[in-house]
Amino acid sequence: MLPLPERTPVPIFDLVIIGASGDLAIRKLFPALVRRIAEGVIPPESRIIGVVRSGESEEDLRYSVGSRLREQGLAEDEVAQFLQHLSFVQADIADPSTLSTLSARLDDPERVRAFYLATPPNLFIPASRALKQAGLLDGDSRLILEKPLGHDLASAKAINDAVAEVLPESRTYRIDHYLGKETVQNLLVLRFANSLFERSWSQRDIDHVQITAAETVGLEQRAGYYDHVGALRDMVQNHVLQLLCLFAMEPPNTLDADAVRDEKVRVLRALRPIVGPEVLRRTVRGQYVAGSVEGRSVPGYTDELGRDSGTETFTALRCELDTWRWGGVPIYLRSGKRMGARFSEIVVTFKAVPHSIFKANDLRTHPEPNRLVIRVQPNDGVQLQFMMKVPGSGRLKLVPRTLDLRYETAFGERTPDAYERLLTDVIRGDQTLFMRRDEVEAAWSFVDPIIEGWKEYYPVPHRYVAGTSGPSQAVGLIERDGRSWVEPELHFG
Ligand code: BG6
Repeated sequence: MLPLPERTPVPIFDLVIIGASGDLAIRKLFPALVRRIAEGVIPPESRIIGVVRSGESEEDLRYSVGSRLREQGLAEDEVAQFLQHLSFVQADIADPSTLSTLSARLDDPERVRAFYLATPPNLFIPASRALKQAGLLDGDSRLILEKPLGHDLASAKAINDAVAEVLPESRTYRIDHYLGKETVQNLLVLRFANSLFERSWSQRDIDHVQITAAETVGLEQRAGYYDHVGALRDMVQNHVLQLLCLFAMEPPNTLDADAVRDEKVRVLRALRPIVGPEVLRRTVRGQYVAGSVEGRSVPGYTDELGRDSGTETFTALRCELDTWRWGGVPIYLRSGKRMGARFSEIVVTFKAVPHSIFKANDLRTHPEPNRLVIRVQPNDGVQLQFMMKVPGSGRLKLVPRTLDLRYETAFGERTPDAYERLLTDVIRGDQTLFMRRDEVEAAWSFVDPIIEGWKEYYPVPHRYVAGTSGPSQAVGLIERDGRSWVEPELHFG
């Protein structure tokens, strides 16, 4: 396999990770850095400085990070190399008076400096103010915020306002890690580097679109967070809507960060609002009960939680975009935990041929419309389905067959993790794959009325058995329109 070309070299940096003993740092950020260092992309002088609240010694912290990285299957020598870059500072990030050791450590003004708030969101405002007060956000310093960015529009605005007081938008990096996934970036290439699709990318040729982000995991020790959030806020407000933006946006003039983000925000603003009792017709809420996932019995959501709850672990929406390009094309979104399979994908179903010259008795199956599947994970790739003649000299028989382009086969084994790309993009100063303030707020403006509608008209989610594709009402949502969900066993194995 040929190494993928790197873009501009990564400059020497100091990356400060606040919340460095937390799950995000250990499971996502550090492994991504381990790989980037092993690939030689990161200059050897660069430093990763973990900020922790506990008084554990530096030696103990490094030891524990090292063993947790090895437990995740990372190679011994690569972890050792990473640890040479890593140091720790003890501080309470909300209290500027405790930041002097960190300030003293950041002694080289020539380096790119970035602060990653891998903390609960209630710390975003105090932490950014404290960093500012300690003089750490001056110059070209960057601030990285991890989702969830607020709980609703008002809280997202409060975070954005507070951040805007301490540094400009051009140095604020809001992460939605889906944007760092290879296939998600490939959506831009698929659409705008190929003339084939763009010409049929509209209501003229497309019948409908489905976007699914299905997971097999349940609460994963995140009960405290998840039960306040639910599937709509946790997955749809950000990841699924970002997929929709890249799928539906108009071609930007350039790949410049703001050109791309201008187009994305237009998509979010064109989403037809779902308000009041419409939630009953255009949305579905579900919560899993005990069942079996991938051959293993799993408890129900409330059993895992240890109490009753009205939080949805599944949601499906029927959306429409009020634009010339997309008017009249239903876009079905769904996301859920503890479903039968883990997969995220966009399925585009084209319109049927306007007139079929094949007689019903010529066909073994009805002619099916063309379908394009953009698989984000796993088995990332692209599939195009069309009708073919079954070979033979008897009666003419048609069957659907697919062109199957998998990343693994096209480019080699390993698809880089989203954070590998995103962390180095921050250091390079490229904001294209980060959410701008107005995007986050536009997404909340769409989601908030649904949540309001749910409170009044749909407080109790439907039940679905863990290991299935969600509540039967989700099937009803799409079948009312004479369509059905495309399940992955029908295409990717
Ligand atoms: C996170 C959500 O943003 O994305 C989690 O908070 C979810 O609940 C995760 O499990 C899914 O990410 P991925 O990359 O595994 O699809």
